[in-house]
Amino acid sequence: DKSWILMVTAQSPTNIAVIKYWGKRDETLILPINDSISVTLDPDHLCTTTTVAVSPKFEKDQMWLNGKEISLAGGRFQSCLREIRSRGTDYEDQEKGISIKKQDWEKLNVHIASFNNFPTAAGLASSAAGFACLVYSVAKLMNVKEDQGQLSAIARQGSGSACRSLYGGFVKWAMGNDPNGSDSIAIQLATEAHWDELVIIIAVVSSRQKETSSTSGMRESVETSPLLLHRAKEVVPKRIVQMEEAIKNRDFPSFAKLACVDSNQFHACCLDTSPPIFYMNDTSHKIISCVEKWNRTEGTPQVAYTFDAGPNAVLIAKNRQVATLLLQKLLFYFPPASETDLSSYLIGDKSILK
Ligand code: PMV
Repeated sequence: DKSWILMVTAQSPTNIAVIKYWGKRDETLILPINDSISVTLDPDHLCTTTTVAVSPKFEKDQMWLNGKEISLAGGRFQSCLREIRSRGTDYEDQEKGISIKKQDWEKLNVHIASFNNFPTAAGLASSAAGFACLVYSVAKLMNVKEDQGQLSAIARQGSGSACRSLYGGFVKWAMGNDPNGSDSIAIQLATEAHWDELVIIIAVVSSRQKETSSTSGMRESVETSPLLLHRAKEVVPKRIVQMEEAIKNRDFPSFAKLACVDSNQFHACCLDTSPPIFYMNDTSHKIISCVEKWNRTEGTPQVAYTFDAGPNAVLIAKNRQVATLLLQKLLFYFPPASETDLSSYLIGDKSILK
């Protein structure tokens, strides 16, 4: 009987690095040149929802992103699907008369439908949420028994930063030593409940797709930037220890300082790349100046900023009260084009806008 379909739906939030990953030591396995630390966002805002299905009726693997079919030919999709299929276990549903043996997963084709509730490839880590969700949902579908850490090593082969979205809260991606990547996995440092006063606001400066993908940007930086090599060897190892300590102690001044200098050094490495890569624009720079000035005036940091491979600002406020003030300041300096633009101009904690 070929009429059955087995389906799983999952949701994954995106994550924002506060100590950045930039540069691979192995491009195929996606092994980084340094550890990184991120905060996973609340799934209500920036997330991917993915439904995966298998059926003997399906003639080939197929995927749709935001309703449009996309090619699965790329090595990254193939690596993730191959790794999961090889770990599938026996599945039995007597009521529906479905019995799938471990080895059958290799022969069954999957259909994957994925939706992002935010702009794709605009430097908002859409691939992180996307691959985390794909790996998690296909693993559930194929009855994979592996733990989250092992699943993170598979998601890593889709997009490096995706491995950190397998966990909520504060997450470290350990670069690992093993040449085949078995120890290059995500580790949860603390749950979201550990430090729930923090409010993350994303100021969407531009929702256009970025010009330099993180893959080619990283490759060019590794090949040409002396600053990046210095950063990975001498700077990040110390910052990782300090950031773990700041998170453990909920020490906002240290957390904010480290997040800001690390974002700035990542963008300095982009500028040190030949030819240089510009991810931030004038508005991004104005936001940095505005936050720096405010933190200096207050005497102690109130807000941290960090920018990924795009111009959009991720602002982390110490608490709700500071977040409300921050929104007022941002709206004053950077008024949206019209009242109706407000919701698309600032996404993140929307309740603050009410
Ligand atoms: O995983 P990728 O290839 O999307 O690279 C992400 C790189 C940054 O977002 C700039 C930094 C990070 O650690 O997430």
